[in-house]
Amino acid sequence: PAPQTWSQRFESALHPTIAEFNASIGFDIQLIEFDLTGSQAHAKMLAKTGIISAAEGEQLVQGLEQIRQEYRQGQFQPGIEFEDVHFAVERRLTDLVGDVGKKLHTARSRNDQVGTDTRLYLRHHLDEIRQHLREFQTVLLTLAENHVETLIPGYTHLQRAQPLSLAHHLLAYFAMAQRDWERLGDVRKRVNQCPLGSGALAGTTFPIDRHYTAELLEFEGVYGNSLDGVSDRDFAIEFLGAASLIMVHLSRLSEEIILWSSEEFRFVRLKDNCATGSSIMPQKKNPDVPELVRGKTGRVFGHLQALLVLMKGLPLAYNKDLQDDKEALFDTVKTVKGSLECMAILLREGLEFQTDRLNQAVTDDFSNATDVADYLATKGVPFREAYNLVGKVVRTCLAQNKLLKDLTLVEWQDLHPQFEADIYRAIEPRQVVSARNSYGGTGFDQVRSALDRAKASLQ
Ligand code: ARG
Repeated sequence: PAPQTWSQRFESALHPTIAEFNASIGFDIQLIEFDLTGSQAHAKMLAKTGIISAAEGEQLVQGLEQIRQEYRQGQFQPGIEFEDVHFAVERRLTDLVGDVGKKLHTARSRNDQVGTDTRLYLRHHLDEIRQHLREFQTVLLTLAENHVETLIPGYTHLQRAQPLSLAHHLLAYFAMAQRDWERLGDVRKRVNQCPLGSGALAGTTFPIDRHYTAELLEFEGVYGNSLDGVSDRDFAIEFLGAASLIMVHLSRLSEEIILWSSEEFRFVRLKDNCATGSSIMPQKKNPDVPELVRGKTGRVFGHLQALLVLMKGLPLAYNKDLQDDKEALFDTVKTVKGSLECMAILLREGLEFQTDRLNQAVTDDFSNATDVADYLATKGVPFREAYNLVGKVVRTCLAQNKLLKDLTLVEWQDLHPQFEADIYRAIEPRQVVSARNSYGGTGFDQVRSALDRAKASLQ
């Protein structure tokens, strides 16, 4: 028989279909560890302030601990008749410790309770995601260290632009991940504020000690306005925003890996442990991991959008709409963690850069054309004039099916008297990369300092 949920104001039970629609236990059971910890802190506070006796407080804390053990051993699996995790825990507590269990909800509402649980949940997983970001960064750094002198074409508009150190390219992703890590650290400050003690909306008549519960739960501060405390979900939206940016970065990297592994590029070879085949085409090897990451990015953006829209029309304070924030958060946590983890594995052991092919790629194009213009500009020719001249040279070479390096010194000097034999060195891909030695550029010396800075930022 369904336990009595509401006060005696209610004469009959909820329609079963409505009960199912209303229930959140199917997903908010994921909050249970945080719900138990939050309730234990609340019970300790009730005892400390004399609202209940010390012995009662102790019984509640012990009972809640027992539920934790039961849950961990798979023995606590409440069904939808309990509506949500908060009711399920309170009922079980009362079964375990008797009538004193009914005192737990003194000076508390599910509104401040669920807000506390959600923040504790998010703080925990946010820290884990930051750890995953660190691992991802470490993998990028190691890969970059091994590829300082590996060259790769650099693109703008997906057209060959100027060659790069592969390490420089990888360190761009490191920098994005660094911002993600910092951004989550910033979001954490707002996640880590305690709403407990806001009551249903207006505070409570009991002499509670909000700062004590907040301290027990390791919150950095408490909400100063009870209405805001129970109805604020800014922290969740900020988290989804930060998570969306993580996914943007992973998705861009994914797109590159997908391109690089194609026959058209052949810059990387996927290893068997991170690629999949086709059920019909025996020759296929598919980059499912980056494709899935790119695909799952959409659902995280969707969760951000969903929560923004969820919030925009809500009058103060709590509204049941807020129950619908959970699945967005849970799915985002799962998606971001899985994506970071699999991308780290892919980079660490799932792909191999094809250095011969990369070397060939940076040699047989016109991505050294800027360097010819720079060469003349260094010798006093105004850059725009040099730029126009080199454009003409490129056109001539294209018509004759030649590269810049194929021009003879006489041909160079016919084009402009300032050209000398050192032009050949100036347009070698290695030299082209090495010469971009401005701060933050791809020159090998710059890349080595960038690697040092990256390493230092992980300390
Ligand atoms: N399951 C609810 C939620 O997640 C708990 C809070 C319910 N509060 C209420 N006033 N109905 O939001």
